Amino acid sequence: MKTISIGLLGLGTVGSGVVQIIKNHQDKIMHQVGCPVEIKKILVKDVHKQRSVELEPGLLTTEPDDILRDDEIDVVIEVMGGIHGTKDYLITALRQGKHVVTANKDLMALHGSELLTVASEHGCDLFYEASVGGGIPILRGLVDGLASDRITQMMGIVNGTTNYILTKMSTEGRSYGEVLKEAQELGFAEADPTSDVEGLDAARKMTILATLGFSMHIDLDDVKVSGISNVTEEDIRYGKQLGYTMKLIGYAHREGEKVEVSVAPTFLSDNHPLASVQNEYNAVYVYGEAVGETMFYGPGAGSLPTATAVVSDLVAVIKNLRIGVNGKSAVTPQYPKQLKDDSEKYSKYFLRIHVQDEVGVFADITAIFARNGVSFEKILQLPIKKNETSEIVLVTHQASLTNYDQILVELYDVPAVKEVKSAYRVVRK
Ligand SMILES: NC(=O)c1ccc[n+]([C@@H]2O[C@H](COP(=O)([O-])OP(=O)(O)OC[C@H]3O[C@@H](n4cnc5c(N)ncnc54)[C@H](OP(=O)(O)O)[C@@H]3O)[C@@H](O)[C@H]2O)c1
Repeated sequence: MKTISIGLLGLGTVGSGVVQIIKNHQDKIMHQVGCPVEIKKILVKDVHKQRSVELEPGLLTTEPDDILRDDEIDVVIEVMGGIHGTKDYLITALRQGKHVVTANKDLMALHGSELLTVASEHGCDLFYEASVGGGIPILRGLVDGLASDRITQMMGIVNGTTNYILTKMSTEGRSYGEVLKEAQELGFAEADPTSDVEGLDAARKMTILATLGFSMHIDLDDVKVSGISNVTEEDIRYGKQLGYTMKLIGYAHREGEKVEVSVAPTFLSDNHPLASVQNEYNAVYVYGEAVGETMFYGPGAGSLPTATAVVSDLVAVIKNLRIGVNGKSAVTPQYPKQLKDDSEKYSKYFLRIHVQDEVGVFADITAIFARNGVSFEKILQLPIKKNETSEIVLVTHQASLTNYDQILVELYDVPAVKEVKSAYRVVRK
């Protein structure tokens, strides 16, 4: 087979890793696909910028058509990021009959379905393993490894920045603001961390995971999202007393034909497999009806880990080329989208309530829960603080989201309830 020519869009963190892996692992790649692989052109913004990898002269360009309309280029690897302009580039590449590998979760979460349709119409592969969990082979794990099973639950720690922050808050008892600042200084958090800390990055990844895992087209707007910026060190400390670890969890659950997908700070029981995932590491816990529990764990980002997933996709494209099946491996969703309504979403909840220390207030609170059919699993009544405010920490048994929302409304009708300081989903093993 002839040399496979690649056009690389982007030469930043991931792109430089792709160049290194193709260079350093050429023998292994050659052995697997039976032909050499060469990078023919690389699109960047600035050709004069200092690069971390050695390049042959003339490789860099700022002209997209040098790649997108070069008939000799077989595969376009997109590692530049961005949404609208990037989508146009990839559509052009696919229409030119080029296979595409991308690491771009933002693009795949928003426009994956459209891009996959264009790819299959043109007999092209479009693979995106690196878009979720960096170097963890989770998408192939779901689509191929668990192809024969019916997945009913996926829970993911799919954002390294927030896991790093929550790990440090938990192990060092420090505040969110302090740890975020340190994470930014160490390069674990962006200068503008909004997309990470408010849960949007995780929501995009959960959109991709849920679509594949449940074989149902899930839109980003279907994912209920809340981030970690309001999590306090007190919350984490109380959670610890009750045997819980705080994580930002992407939660996707299927019951019958209906699904729910959300991202929220969540208390996991300490013995849950995800509770031990520390720092910037990612993991996805998958429950299948036949296989039971599985967990995929590893580095969720970084130059070489992410590039490993990208180049593995490239290997898959070339293997398909050898047997002439490009564009045929994408599986279209099997089921029409059916989302649970709030009365069908069940969870346990942790609540931290500040109350005026008055006779009867606890009875009023328990009456509200009882009226809504929700009982308690655990209760901590904490010593009275200054200005006579007392704190009640409780964990409920399973409650529907409808009942839980109603409880929150009714709690504020009790004059002695000053504030519901925090409220989190609880997941036990
Ligand atoms: N970083 C990770 O660990 C990681 C993990 C998983 C997925 N991803 C995804 O991988 C993609 C790349 O991330 P990254 O961290 O490698 O980004 P990055 O370091 O910012 O690199 C982006 C590269 O793309 C080039 N570029 C950006 N916009 C361009 C444009 N309009 N025209 C031409 N070139 C352009 C830049 O050129 P210059 O070098 O000239 O500025 C740079 O080389 C993103 O979609 C990201 O979400 C990243």
